Amino acid sequence: MNEHVQTGNGAPLFNPLSPEFIKNPYPHYERMRTTDPMHVTPLGVFVASRHAEASLVLRDKRFGKDYVERTIRRYGPKIMEEPVFRSMSHWMLQQDPPDHTRLRGLVVKAFTARRVEDMRPRIQHIVDETLDRIIPQGKMDLIEDYAFRLPVTIICDMLGIPEEHREVFYTGSRDGGRLLDPVPLSPDEIKQGNASNAMAAMYFQQLFELRRKTPGDDLITQLLQAEEDGSKLSNEELTANIILLFGAGHETTVNLIGNGLLALHRNPDQLELLKARPELITNAIEEFLRYDSSVQLTGRVALEDIEDLGGKRIPKGESVLCLLGSANHDPAVYPDHPERLDITRPNVRPLSFGGGIHFCLGAQLARIEAEIAISTLLRRLPDLRLDDAINPEWRPTFVLRGLKRLPASW
Ligand code: HEM
Repeated sequence: MNEHVQTGNGAPLFNPLSPEFIKNPYPHYERMRTTDPMHVTPLGVFVASRHAEASLVLRDKRFGKDYVERTIRRYGPKIMEEPVFRSMSHWMLQQDPPDHTRLRGLVVKAFTARRVEDMRPRIQHIVDETLDRIIPQGKMDLIEDYAFRLPVTIICDMLGIPEEHREVFYTGSRDGGRLLDPVPLSPDEIKQGNASNAMAAMYFQQLFELRRKTPGDDLITQLLQAEEDGSKLSNEELTANIILLFGAGHETTVNLIGNGLLALHRNPDQLELLKARPELITNAIEEFLRYDSSVQLTGRVALEDIEDLGGKRIPKGESVLCLLGSANHDPAVYPDHPERLDITRPNVRPLSFGGGIHFCLGAQLARIEAEIAISTLLRRLPDLRLDDAINPEWRPTFVLRGLKRLPASW
């Protein structure tokens, strides 16, 4: 198949930032899987839309991040002088071993299933407090007023951000998602990225000072101790990874809650089933992750020549994009109507949290936050209605898939 495969109406097969794609990527994915499952874009990037190839790339050591080289290939050699790209180059998410192993090892203990289970009462308390405040109003935006506050509060707790500093994080911009999209940023967007990165770095440097003087029982205090040791973590790495944890820790979870609630309301039989059988919530969360994942794509670079991946040869240095959302709808893995929401579906193991060494650090935390947020809402507001479930407004990003707003009333 050649690299200029078009759809029947002449539109490119993979055009992830087009409004139709953002509104509903799933018919586009189906076309990709059936006509050109290892599609090559006009820029020479491979796009894996089937589960088999996407999942293999994430787990295979012949693929890695190779972030600096990959970014220079895309933008030119001067790009690493831009602070936002320098900062991202230190994210564990963008590192290969051994640096990835070192960075992840420093924080992994804070995210074990046991530690996260212990957070249940705190999560329930935040959800109940938010609803106590909102219920008398009779309406809300499920995204800004409800889904957003929970993960932001929890990640602030984990990092040790004092209560009195938090308001700015609750009201801050949620436009950082564009940094992850597979379409190059414009000079204006780079400028904006540099400015947000500088603000966050400045804030965290001040917080580091505070925690050096007054240590707390939090991740930043722990990481500062590793930084002081010198060989474990540089100051630049510390700042960058705190920014990563802060961003990764909320945007994705907000969208899991928002996309899950939208899916339920568009499928009233499933909504009624979950209300009648609340014990289905754990499986329902896996199904929400599968049905409309809040992360749609992640990429890798071939670290050596790959002779055959889904019938294509991938030369060393070329990028492969793994379409997680498409893999989650692949009938080869989900033979029973993958396009349907079915909260009783057996064996749901979505690729939404990735796979291999970069498997999402916050997966269990996100699951529990969404479980408590969605089940408590259904219990306390059983008559809640969405004002616009047919044509809601999506955020204009592709990697992070989520709603701008989701007005509801009761
Ligand atoms: C990595 C998705 C929530 C922190 C990842 C990756 C995916 C993902 C797909 C792997 C990317 C890759 O392989 O290139 C999600 C989704 C979430 C979610 C769908 C919610 C529904 C969270 C939360 C946190 C978090 C709550 C932290 C509080 C991270 C970190 C990494 C990561 C630090 C990098 C891990 C590494 O490189 O080793 N996430 N995430 N995520 N996630 Fe999440």
